[in-house]
Amino acid sequence: MATATASPKPRTIKPPQVKDQPLLIGGKWLDSVSGKTFATINPATGETICQVAEGDKADVDLAVKAARKAFEEGPWSKMNASDRGRLINKLADLIEENQEELAALESLDNGKPYRDASAADLPLTIKCYRYYAGWADKIHGKTIPVDGPFFCYTRHEPVGVVGQIIPWNFPLLMQAWKWGPALATGCTVVLKPAEQTPLTALRVGQLAQEAGFPDGVINIVPGFGPTAGAALSSHMDVDKVAFTGEYITGQIVMEAAAKSNLKRVSLELGGKSPNVVFADADLDAAVEGAYFGLFFNQGQCCCAGSRVFVEDKVHDQFVDKMLKKAKSRKLGDPFDPETEQGPQVSQEQCDRIMGYISAGKKEGAKMLIGGNRVGEKGYYIEPTVFTDVKDDMKIAKEEIFGPVMNILRFKDMDEVVRRGNKTFYGLAAAVWTRDINKAHRLANSLRAGTVWINCYDVFDAAAPFGGFKMSGIGRELGEYALENYTEVKTVYVNLG
Ligand code: NAI
Ligand code: MG
Repeated sequence: MATATASPKPRTIKPPQVKDQPLLIGGKWLDSVSGKTFATINPATGETICQVAEGDKADVDLAVKAARKAFEEGPWSKMNASDRGRLINKLADLIEENQEELAALESLDNGKPYRDASAADLPLTIKCYRYYAGWADKIHGKTIPVDGPFFCYTRHEPVGVVGQIIPWNFPLLMQAWKWGPALATGCTVVLKPAEQTPLTALRVGQLAQEAGFPDGVINIVPGFGPTAGAALSSHMDVDKVAFTGEYITGQIVMEAAAKSNLKRVSLELGGKSPNVVFADADLDAAVEGAYFGLFFNQGQCCCAGSRVFVEDKVHDQFVDKMLKKAKSRKLGDPFDPETEQGPQVSQEQCDRIMGYISAGKKEGAKMLIGGNRVGEKGYYIEPTVFTDVKDDMKIAKEEIFGPVMNILRFKDMDEVVRRGNKTFYGLAAAVWTRDINKAHRLANSLRAGTVWINCYDVFDAAAPFGGFKMSGIGRELGEYALENYTEVKTVYVNLG
């Protein structure tokens, strides 16, 4: 995420040694009730990093109890809002002090290059906590001029105990997007990190304890989706669930929320984002932006510009330039400072992406480079570029979540608006042009939660992010995210 290609070259860092990991419930580090553990895997080698306590329903029950107690009785419930802000800032300080270690842990568990983790994930994570620390004592209601002898005001109260289920593509950052607004508003949290990448969440849990968050305010229950995740989203004493991941899982989470206690739901569910390059664009900048917008993070971004629409007149020139860049992309050990692309997160994701590559070939798209797995171990896939992609091909419709670029041709504005919107997703979009009218027309016409004009993947904790249509419900980041974590209470006072 962050802005393009800014990664400095840090000194060579070694993968950290990691011990087996417990759960965090009510301020205590525990084994799971069942005693079960699962392995978290290093995607660069396929080898086990360590065992992690495997949470299930019984652990989620304990965590929710601890979170409920902290919400209703503990020091957190009585704490000054400004002191909550200080705690969140303290957590940001501790993450900053330990950023090298956290970046290395993220790289080890996820496979992303260390230089990306340290240049993007860590600074964005720290900024997100600081941004929400600032909000803690600025969340307030209104006074409302109602009829009659009444004084009427609203309070924005914390929604309560929140369940948060996050994915593996940006583990630290997704945790920050979820914890920031939840803690600022005064909620208590049960977090289920992704089973592929539980390690940094647990380390941040330790830092939160060190910062001084009272016991039970944050609880971390690693485990699998259909067990720990389902227990959280169907729990009768969880007031709200926040989820990021695949839209089909989002539907399951929403159904579980509906059928249990109608808990509040916010969802961020990925996309098939159109990235539109007009002939009048600065072509080198557009190539750079499209390359970054797709290949960054091994293509594992919810907002990846995975449908690159290029105007007929510059199509071939664009493709030539893109191929040059994609060919030179350096795959390898995530801890090598020269590495630009690491492995995909798991064998499962790797197989899934390879399946999309064969589907693209079968449906008649032209694969100009890539298409192969690399090496004997780890989950590496070559940067892959398809042209002659048609709107109804599988690779143009479904989220690939890998280093596979689809280039589609278009002739004019109306056509590209229609085709750009021909998807059930609506997370992000981008347009490259020097014509300000075209840029704004397209920004208004594309049905997406974020539109980038002559840039891609610009993120800021202060600006909302989320999806239209089946890309989600609600907005994360910015002031808008606070709405997910508050209930509005109306109070009338009789002055008569
Ligand atoms: P997923 O949506 O299944 O997993 C995300 C999180 O949801 C994980 O913590 C997982 O344990 C949890 N989960 C899974 N099943 C659950 C259930 N029944 N109830 C509650 N929680 C559940 O995504 P997965 O399987 O890791 O990846 C599949 C595809 O999803 C990817 O290929 C990609 O297309 C998409 N995806 C999108 C992401 C985004 O940022 N929008 C992030 C990760 C994946
Ligand atoms: Mg899944």
